[in-house]
Amino acid sequence: MSKYQLDSSPIYIDGTDIPKNKLNITDSELIHEIEQNLLTQAYEQFSVQVNINTVFDEEYFVNLHKKTLESLYDFAGLYRNVNMSKGDSQFCLAEYLQNESARIFNALKDDNYLSNILDKKEFATKLAYYQGELIALHPFYEVNGRILRLFFDMLCIYNDYSIIDYTDSIANGKYIQASIECVQYADTGKLEKIIFNGLIKR
Ligand SMILES: Nc1ncnc2c1ncn2[C@@H]1O[C@H](COP(=O)(O)OP(=O)(O)O)[C@@H](O)[C@H]1O
Ligand SMILES: [Mg+2]
Repeated sequence: MSKYQLDSSPIYIDGTDIPKNKLNITDSELIHEIEQNLLTQAYEQFSVQVNINTVFDEEYFVNLHKKTLESLYDFAGLYRNVNMSKGDSQFCLAEYLQNESARIFNALKDDNYLSNILDKKEFATKLAYYQGELIALHPFYEVNGRILRLFFDMLCIYNDYSIIDYTDSIANGKYIQASIECVQYADTGKLEKIIFNGLIKR
């Protein structure tokens, strides 16, 4: 099974699992290596910019995708206009993306970007709620998971937590299982556990 799922998405090179890209790369390993380098650079760049005036709104989120990936992909920072699913999970329908995204980010604003929450357990509950919402939104054609984790990692820094290490839960399938339960049953319990275990106060 290929890493990328083709869905009905127009972004892939015909007959491959490789997104069309500005470097005309057709090698799957190489594209992943470049993506990982761009993500590493983004973590370095954005983490030092987080401060008390940082606003974690939709624009910030979209900008993370755009700035991280625009050297490689034309779809950087653009919401998809096709419906997408993975396995049995149907993500937000394309026609509702704008409204749903606005709803989620307005709620996060009303929650003061989680800055009023002192209890770690409560912080994990809220972070899992919003992360589950963005997992189900799946607004971009590709690299949704990594960019939304980058977003919440920056939100962690803002709230005096270290970034969360998801490596193990991604490698052992627990993150995908947690995502499935978010998307299909609106159950954030497993995701909350992953987040709670990864949260470290700075
Ligand atoms: N079967 C599934 N059901 C629900 N969510 C899923 C499923 N498979 C993957 N996901 C979610 O989609 C994300 C991957 O989306 P994708 O756009 O490919 O991002 P990335 O390339 O950064 O991994 C995963 O991190 C997970 O949260
Ligand atoms: Mg992917």
